[in-house]
Amino acid sequence: MVKPLLVKRISGACAILCSVGALAFTSCVLAQPGSLSGRVLFTDERKGNCIGCHKTPTDTSSKGASNIGPPLEAIKQKYPTPDDRVRLKDVIRDLRDKNPESIMPPYGKHHILTEAEIDAIMAYLETL
Ligand code: HEC
Repeated sequence: MVKPLLVKRISGACAILCSVGALAFTSCVLAQPGSLSGRVLFTDERKGNCIGCHKTPTDTSSKGASNIGPPLEAIKQKYPTPDDRVRLKDVIRDLRDKNPESIMPPYGKHHILTEAEIDAIMAYLETL
């Protein structure tokens, strides 16, 4: 219940910021609610901590510096169709179905992230 409220607050803050000037407007456009919370989950070490293994070459502010996993970029091009999106979600839920040796945590299966959190992260991934 906290999250929709947070999203509303963020949107409200954006509305105010957007009236301030062009710079603020740009940051609001970049920070759409779904991708914004997904970005937080992506970087938060108590949540996804995806940056512990993945760089995001097109989002240098996420500060990921690890090469343990492949760099995440052009995700929309890599996973363009609805079927691909299901595949992408399965990667985050539990990659071991595809690669039993994978060290990527099974975020869905082990309830590290909820379905809604995985959706938010996917919205962020699609901006990369
Ligand atoms: C402990 C390291 C680790 C963490 C943490 C991690 N990953 Fe990964 N990830 C990997 C590795 C290694 C691969 C390469 C595939 C394999 O293991 O078979 C991968 C692959 C992927 C892929 C497929 C890459 C492609 O180009 O299609 C995606 C998408 C992905 N990870 C997203 C995430 C997201 C989102 C998170 C956070 C919720 C995350 N990863 C956290 C190690 C990690």
